[in-house]
Amino acid sequence: MEVKGINEDQPRFPNQRPIDNMSCQDWPEPIVRVQSLSESGSTDIPDRYVKPPAERPVLPNSRINGDDEKINIPIINLAGLDGGDENARREILGQISAACREWGFFQVVNHGVRHELMDDARENWRQFFHSPMEVKQAYGNSPKTYEGYGSRLGVEKGAILDWSDYYFLHYRPSSLKDFNKWPATPASCREVIDEYCKELVRLSGRLMKVLSINLGISEDRLQNAFGGENIGARLRVNFYPKWPRADLTLGLSAHSGPGGLTLLLPDHQVTGFQVRKGDNWITVKPAKHAFIVNIGDQIQVLSNANYKSVEHRVAVNSANERVSLAFFYNPKSDIPIEPVKELVTEESPSLYPPMTFDEYRLFIRTRGPKGKSQVESMKSPR
Ligand code: OGA
Repeated sequence: MEVKGINEDQPRFPNQRPIDNMSCQDWPEPIVRVQSLSESGSTDIPDRYVKPPAERPVLPNSRINGDDEKINIPIINLAGLDGGDENARREILGQISAACREWGFFQVVNHGVRHELMDDARENWRQFFHSPMEVKQAYGNSPKTYEGYGSRLGVEKGAILDWSDYYFLHYRPSSLKDFNKWPATPASCREVIDEYCKELVRLSGRLMKVLSINLGISEDRLQNAFGGENIGARLRVNFYPKWPRADLTLGLSAHSGPGGLTLLLPDHQVTGFQVRKGDNWITVKPAKHAFIVNIGDQIQVLSNANYKSVEHRVAVNSANERVSLAFFYNPKSDIPIEPVKELVTEESPSLYPPMTFDEYRLFIRTRGPKGKSQVESMKSPR
């Protein structure tokens, strides 16, 4: 896949300042691995990771900032979804519909993915991140495709960075799936990731049907708008090293998912994932062997904002590392995405002009995570 440079003559995001001379080919500064900083044991606070006060996190379980222990995103049991009991199915559809409207997020349990596979996938990645640095460096990435081992999102020189390293890989389309770009260490890694991604494509397809039915459109409508069988699927594995001054930084800055659906496998032992609810940030309490499902910007666009993508971010833990697997189920990258015709009426005209996902994701690839500014700036002028 070729990522084109930003065309400054035709600004697609009118409210955004253009970045000068952005080529998107290489990092603007030498890459520093956050894990190495954490492991150095230094108590110095590197300025590059200190967020402005307004962006600093409410730490999970912090009594000072009053994070509410009792509030959580909905947990939905999918056991009866395809079991033939129509009432049970309707009940689940209703719960998902309410979660999409009220939260933009929900957790699913009894989703059909083997629990051992989930645990295995997370542990393989933990081992990868604990491999010697030269093993990891062999997969070092560039902003051209972001595939491989990386330590920043965005190429703005001098930007304040997030406290995390990550690994990005392609699963779909098959033409972009390349085992040589997946870690060979630990030995079972490629096989486990392959099965994990296959299962998550299947689960995403089931959820796409549910979302379509809930939007009142035919059950294959969103899937077809994504390009049918030709969807894109990528995995980003996030490694958040511990840092004593977790109150000053973020593991991942606030953003909405730029793609379609995200299925997040959080760390089962360390919390830190936070979801915006109005003016507050809610720390998600993961249910055992659940996936956290999240509506991305492309579904906001296709649904003509009947569903909204919601901002989320990650707080670092001062005592423990955290590993999470974010699986992105995206539209085929070169087809125009715009509100589906059935949801565009005289009373609710189309809010967004057509744009391919290739064009859309240039924003996060150059600027890094920036809240909901991109999807907001896309709205058609009235
Ligand atoms: C992401 C993401 C959350 C997490 O990778 O886009 O939102 O808990 N991750 O790591």
